[in-house]
Amino acid sequence: MNYEAVLAGLPDAVIAVDTSLRIVFWNAAAEVLTERSARRAEGRFVKEMFPPDASVVRRLAETLSTGESRSEAEALVERPDGRQVPVSIVTAPLFARAGTVEAAVAVLRDLSRIRQLEAEVRRGETLAAAGRMAVGLAHEIRNPLGAIRGAVQLLARELSGQPRLREYTDVLLTEVDRVNRIIEELLDLARPMQLRLVPLNLHQLLERVVLLHEEGCRARGITLVRSYDPSLPPILGDEDRLQQVFHNLVRNAVDAMADGGRITLTTRVSLNPLFGKMDLGVGQRSMVEAKVADEGAGIPEAARGRIFDPFFTTKDKGLGLGLAICHRILEEHRGAIQVESTEGRGTVVTCFLPIAK
Ligand SMILES: Nc1ncnc2c1ncn2[C@@H]1O[C@H](COP(=O)(O)OP(=O)(O)O)[C@@H](O)[C@H]1O
Ligand SMILES: [Mg+2]
Repeated sequence: MNYEAVLAGLPDAVIAVDTSLRIVFWNAAAEVLTERSARRAEGRFVKEMFPPDASVVRRLAETLSTGESRSEAEALVERPDGRQVPVSIVTAPLFARAGTVEAAVAVLRDLSRIRQLEAEVRRGETLAAAGRMAVGLAHEIRNPLGAIRGAVQLLARELSGQPRLREYTDVLLTEVDRVNRIIEELLDLARPMQLRLVPLNLHQLLERVVLLHEEGCRARGITLVRSYDPSLPPILGDEDRLQQVFHNLVRNAVDAMADGGRITLTTRVSLNPLFGKMDLGVGQRSMVEAKVADEGAGIPEAARGRIFDPFFTTKDKGLGLGLAICHRILEEHRGAIQVESTEGRGTVVTCFLPIAK
């Protein structure tokens, strides 16, 4: 049995050190996790690869000095570019024949996918709770609103001879309709969604969305760029709902670009990021990826965790339901939505959709 091959093939990072905390083994998963090669790591002190006060360094030192195992449910590993990865750590001593500690091993498990899934679930729960409240509210508001609308229409008829007063009833009607639209959108979030899933050509769908925005973009000095994969397979989706998704995303991109720029629509086949091979035993699925990238203001760090919350908006006239609805629709498609953003540089929203079989 070739044990080194077994260790190399483990999905968890395995790092072994001798009694002087010098690295003697660094498997492939450790290379991926730390973004540092075994060639660079082996022979160096573990303190040279991680900050001296890093959990993994401390735990290995403790294990060497006590001969006991140590574990930490949640620690952080810093990558060369400063990004931090959440990991769990377990260390264990290796004993020499004489019973003295000869080496120590640390096993690090990357928790970022699990954290991502957890955030996803929490988001879903918030939306479900907001949705239930919305249904209750909407029913209470819709009836009186209907009565108001009817009365205003009657009033308008009575005032037909007085154009100045008619202006007021017009305002009333417009605003009542606006409130109605808000309620409709809210209910959209709350209702169980009846999707009509059919094989769709995503490019045709995107083109219809582009058509809706072309003129507005031109007026604002925004160029719409297509980067379509010509061999993209058909997706399985609900045409109206997905059109709504990309309409919302393009609108957000336009809103973010006060000074013009480019909006790039990209499609390709990729692997679903949320159901990686290490989690839940689901196995990696091929999906279609559709990206809406803008060169706009970007999303400030502080807002990033909240953009999917219903009613979270930074716009004067925003409703804050766009991304919540997109999230809901993609969830119903058993897809996913991800947002990456750099302040001042722009935002990339990626939608993952199932391929029609
Ligand atoms: N492409 C984008 N660029 C910058 N900020 C964005 C982008 N998309 C969404 N946001 C931020 O997320 C918030 C919520 O978006 P959304 O749910 O669509 O609601 P709304 O557009 O009504 O504000 C926006 O107010 C904005 O702050
Ligand atoms: Mg929006």
